[in-house]
Amino acid sequence: MKDTIILGIESSCDETSVAVVKNGREVLSNIINSQIKVHELYGGVVPEIASRMHVEAINLITKEAVQKANCTLKDIDAIAVTQGPGLVGALLVGVSYAKGLSLAIQKPLIAVNHIEGHIAGNYLTYKQLKPPFLCLIISGGHTHLVNVKTYTEFEILGKTRDDAIGEAFDKVARVVGLGYPGGPKVEKLAKEGEANIELPVTHLDNYDFSFSGIKTKVINLNHNNKYINKSNLCASFQKAVTEMLLYNVRKAVKDFKVDKICLAGGVSCNSYIRGAFDELSSKLNIKVYYPEPVFCTDNGAMIASMGYYNYINGKKADLNLNAIPNLKIGE
Ligand code: KG4
Ligand code: ZN
Repeated sequence: MKDTIILGIESSCDETSVAVVKNGREVLSNIINSQIKVHELYGGVVPEIASRMHVEAINLITKEAVQKANCTLKDIDAIAVTQGPGLVGALLVGVSYAKGLSLAIQKPLIAVNHIEGHIAGNYLTYKQLKPPFLCLIISGGHTHLVNVKTYTEFEILGKTRDDAIGEAFDKVARVVGLGYPGGPKVEKLAKEGEANIELPVTHLDNYDFSFSGIKTKVINLNHNNKYINKSNLCASFQKAVTEMLLYNVRKAVKDFKVDKICLAGGVSCNSYIRGAFDELSSKLNIKVYYPEPVFCTDNGAMIASMGYYNYINGKKADLNLNAIPNLKIGE
């Protein structure tokens, strides 16, 4: 069978990334231009700056991705692009560029949901992995527990009712003075501490999550106790949010009798969380998957992979495609 080569474009937040992926699984190139250094100065992502930096980078990054893949635009079968969710200005840069390229090289355009893209990050690391499985997407913007029925059919079991888990990590990092992006910094500091501070662990009736209570508690503890041990605070926060994740996943594994659970999204880089899921894996006798770190945080390869599955299932877009900042999974 002829190979299918997809060019994937990601620009939903603060990474401009373009990748070339063969048959949804084999990464030929994955160029990521992170804007973190610039946003760091402001303590978080500044949407206007993000859009402008995407505009400056996207053409060069695309050229680099095609070159690195050792191919030309003629070899590309379709162009996949993140349609949403994300920052509208940032998304528009990718969507407009993809539409222009699709018109110029006369190749089909594929719209990809960013969250579904995160799920597909697993296919790049585990070449044999196939749905059905449960996927826990934990990122800066999202916390979703999803039943992945097929490559293109999803059922949301639960999601956060307030902050995303990564947002809570970033906020905790900011208040304890670690800066942006907070997740990796909280993880590092937590390694030096002990999880000995009691924090509220929220369990809801269904599979939903809530992180605003614990976030506010950490902010208040830090504010009211000048000499609080920040490593212990980070370790306690990390442990408590991990417990919240495990609780819902345990419940879903039992209710849905699944034997596979995938993690996805930037927060799934966290080694404490990975360790906790490894333990769960042996306790419940289920298999746990997590993508290589480069496919956990935002990247074009995961968009190309998900784009491949949309493409072979006939889900093509046209030049009326628009960015949808609050796009829901499965839409
Ligand atoms: O998936 P991602 O790149 O972007 C979104 O789609 O949101 O995730 C970024 C988030 C940030 O909140 C960042 O702090 C968090 O992932 N993150 C981590 C770690 N590495 C990245 N959180 C906890 N521990 C980490 N090691
Ligand atoms: Zn993301």
